[in-house]
Amino acid sequence: MHPAAESGGPADPLAGRRVLVMISGSIAAVKLPQLVSALVKRGALVRCAVTPSAARLVSPVALASLSRHPCHDDDDPWSPAAPRPLHVELAEWAELVLLAPLSATTLGRWVHGLGDTLVASVLLACEAPVLVAPAMNTAMWSSPGVAANWQTLQSWERVVTLPPASGLLACDRIGDGRMAEPERLLLGLESLAVWGWRRDWRGRRLLVSAGPTREPLDPARCLTNPSTGLMGLYLAQAALLRGAEVDLVHGPLTAPDAWREGLSCHPISTAAELEAALDRLQPQASAIAMAAAVADHRRSAPRADKIAKEELEAALSGGWETVPDLLAGLVARRSPGQRILGFAAYSGTDLETVRAKFARKGCDLLFANPIDRPGAGFASATNTGWLLGPGPQETRLEPASKLAIAHRLLSALAAALDESQES
Ligand code: CTP
Repeated sequence: MHPAAESGGPADPLAGRRVLVMISGSIAAVKLPQLVSALVKRGALVRCAVTPSAARLVSPVALASLSRHPCHDDDDPWSPAAPRPLHVELAEWAELVLLAPLSATTLGRWVHGLGDTLVASVLLACEAPVLVAPAMNTAMWSSPGVAANWQTLQSWERVVTLPPASGLLACDRIGDGRMAEPERLLLGLESLAVWGWRRDWRGRRLLVSAGPTREPLDPARCLTNPSTGLMGLYLAQAALLRGAEVDLVHGPLTAPDAWREGLSCHPISTAAELEAALDRLQPQASAIAMAAAVADHRRSAPRADKIAKEELEAALSGGWETVPDLLAGLVARRSPGQRILGFAAYSGTDLETVRAKFARKGCDLLFANPIDRPGAGFASATNTGWLLGPGPQETRLEPASKLAIAHRLLSALAAALDESQES
């Protein structure tokens, strides 16, 4: 598991939450013990239930041991020791449900209201939000019955769906059907914990920039900054879970590769490449979140040969140019109704500089976060700061996970979009 997916700690939205993990029959089930272990490490209270086919693919003993609780299967409802119907007990216990992998059979049972396995009957009895990640062979996935059932599920309340990705499948075929990776499932559960299942970004397209830019000095060196791209990635994934289509333009990211799943990704390195990508993608965007940490200067002409160490100081003493303000360019070119969120990194307590930056940049909203405090800024799993706008409004965002902050920012952007539609 990537360290960024293992935030833990008291601010972790998963700490203390009751998570029911239900597993149905697909070979991707073998990835679930790792996920159960990660959930427990993050302080979640976990119970597991398996269908008969899942129980043959993944060890219920391993799941019991990792979740610190018996793993339930289809024999358990018939135990004379059970004081209440087990499916109702589990359904009422769960605050958050993960159904992964979802097989064609369990999908069919659920959509058609059949409760003939423990997992299927819990799904019928459950009123908690459910994160769903199917996995199956490409031909099965695209067969009309499965496609129709999946389509139906998209329209249900309380259900958040992570469609399968394309890749090498257990049947040796390359195609759609790979279950979303465990790190993305964790992110999805965390999102259910802080936001829930509502899809208020449906029909909207968000353009996010994230991560650092890199300006070459010579073939061996570059000017960059410690941005990891986490804040932008959280924004992008949170928007996706809220129903948006998302373009992510990003420099080098320090985050699980799985967090790029589902996004239209446009990797860049320099500010010039970032600018070109933004120019291309801006017209389609309903809103833009400019979270990239753009290096402020670049070489007018980077050297083609490696500069010797002894010559470095002299070679870099001149020949710099300022990188244009890309955010200001986006604001200048925006279409009516398009809303733009800028970011500002600040140190100390000087909000005046941030206010001046907000006025200068002309964006609709600006999130200013400190980079000189523990629990905020570069590489941190948590963040805090001030949201400026719309207009003179200033809102303090208390310390929270970066995903929770991302949801706050998306709600502010969505409100700004709603307002632009009304006026
Ligand atoms: N930004 C940009 N183009 C630049 C520099 C910054 O689009 N050349 C964007 C960032 O993506 C961010 C916002 O402007 O959304 C503020 O970035 P920040 O680095 O805080 O501000 P700067 O404009 O670089 O000002 P300064 O470094 O002087 O604080």
